[in-house]
Amino acid sequence: MSTFEIRRLEAEPGTLAQLSELLVEVVAQGGSVSFMHPLPVQEASTFWSLALAAAARGERAVLGAWTGQRLVGTVTLLLDTPPNQPHRAEIAKMMTRVSQRGQGVAAALLREAEALAQVRGKTLLVLDTASDGGAAGLYRKLGYTLAGEIPDYALKPHGGLSGTLIFWKRLPGSAGEERASTE
Ligand SMILES: CC(C)(COP(=O)(O)OP(=O)(O)OC[C@H]1O[C@@H](n2cnc3c(N)ncnc32)[C@H](O)[C@@H]1OP(=O)(O)O)[C@@H](O)C(=O)NCCC(=O)NCCS
Repeated sequence: MSTFEIRRLEAEPGTLAQLSELLVEVVAQGGSVSFMHPLPVQEASTFWSLALAAAARGERAVLGAWTGQRLVGTVTLLLDTPPNQPHRAEIAKMMTRVSQRGQGVAAALLREAEALAQVRGKTLLVLDTASDGGAAGLYRKLGYTLAGEIPDYALKPHGGLSGTLIFWKRLPGSAGEERASTE
């Protein structure tokens, strides 16, 4: 098992190139992360450029897992919620390099995103994942609750529709959890 380090990512050329390569690889392998296969690397690069610019404005945090100089996984914490949902954040763009899967990279990224969300005063996380070939098992293992499924929600990267599963999780110490424990 390889060791890895998790860091917040910034708009540096090397980082942008590795994020783009990772996204292209994950989409090609069938990962449902909003894009269709084949994904041109320039399109991936434009997506990450905009994402990292949003991160620089504090609207999101893009976390990366590194093995040495190699980016092996990423997750995004979306922080830019409407004025009536300041306590909520969203998990998105979770992906691990095919060669590094099954070694705890995604779980570590998710835990780090949760810790960061708490620091930012967030008490509720939501996310969605494809019903067909998504990561529901990962989220269940990390304590997320299934809210429900929307059928035929999106195209899979190689075509054909998949539903989406909506998950949520209260973060420890949140008002809702305290309320629940005193009921
Ligand atoms: C889903 C994904 C990010 C998991 O990455 P990973 O680094 O291999 O995951 P981890 O090794 O941290 O897995 C942690 C645990 O979750 C489980 N798990 C991970 N992915 C799972 C899946 N798709 N289904 C069921 N269980 C899963 C693992 O078995 C592991 O359990 P264990 O601790 O009992 O061994 C990776 O498979 C991926 O990039 N998929 C394509 C993109 C995608 O679908 N992303 C999710 C979008 S919402």
